Amino acid sequence: KPYVIGLDMGGTNSVFGVVDQRGTIKAQTVISSKAYPDVNDYVNAAVEALQPALDLIGGIEFVKGMGIGAPNANFYTGNIEDAPNLAWKGVIPIASLFEEALGVPARVTNDANAAALGEMTYGVARGMKNFIMITLGTGVGSGIVVDGNVVYGSDGFAGELGHAIVDRSVEARVCGCGRNGCLETYCSATGVARTARLMLESTDEPSMLRNLKPEDITSFEVFKAAEAGEKVAKDIFDFTGRILGQACANFALFNAPEAFVFFGGLTKAGHWLMDPIAKAYEENSLMTYRGKARLLVSSLNGSEAAVLGASALGWE
Ligand code: BGC
Ligand code: NA
Ligand code: ZN
Repeated sequence: KPYVIGLDMGGTNSVFGVVDQRGTIKAQTVISSKAYPDVNDYVNAAVEALQPALDLIGGIEFVKGMGIGAPNANFYTGNIEDAPNLAWKGVIPIASLFEEALGVPARVTNDANAAALGEMTYGVARGMKNFIMITLGTGVGSGIVVDGNVVYGSDGFAGELGHAIVDRSVEARVCGCGRNGCLETYCSATGVARTARLMLESTDEPSMLRNLKPEDITSFEVFKAAEAGEKVAKDIFDFTGRILGQACANFALFNAPEAFVFFGGLTKAGHWLMDPIAKAYEENSLMTYRGKARLLVSSLNGSEAAVLGASALGWE
């Protein structure tokens, strides 16, 4: 039976799935994306980690191809270029590195584009022709779908909405891309942690978050504090959701989407985040757009949407 390998490479973890023709993930394995300063060591670690999964399906000879979704990746060239949230700088020929290591053809796309493909094929965006995928993890990514196709643009790098500038004040946060005020500095999981540290400094409100070392505050800890009824935690998600909802109201101007689909670790914050997004989205939308786009959360678990979307490229 033929299989493909799908890789969802995030700023923190890399999830590999061995996927069959029906889109079932037969086996999955995870390695750190951050632990290998040399990309060759990363690829070697991946091949080693994949071994049990490959044994399960009878060996690499049953794998027809590999699809990779990665930050700052280019569908046309197979390269990753200047990724702010990865250890490897410059141009990384990730597709050919895996082709050589595994001996199967590999295709690459942006990680958020992969998630969009996954949602379109297997998830909440099934049947949709125009939607925008927003991934909220270590960074913020996007996949823009117009008339049924992911938009790649003139050079393969279209759809980097996480680097839309949403703050042009002098205090605008510094982004890993080298610019200031990007959406991802506020609305990624790491952006939320950054907001939490700043808000805790600027108030005396009691909070369970104060029991943590500042560097141990994560968006999930903020979620727990919100669930426990803490005002400061709700304020953190309100602040985040307001920025994201307004940004989405602007993004809607590109393609009049049927929906925004949110995906990634931060969506675990549930209504604490989604309600302020919805409110800001409606308040900031152009009149003709109001009430039209649905704001959805990925229906697939964990990184499934991105693994499956990447795997779809493996069949090509
Ligand atoms: C990168 C994008 C990526 C996103 C999510 C951003 O920092 O520039 O390419 O899609 O993070 O990983
Ligand atoms: Na993209
Ligand atoms: Zn940026």
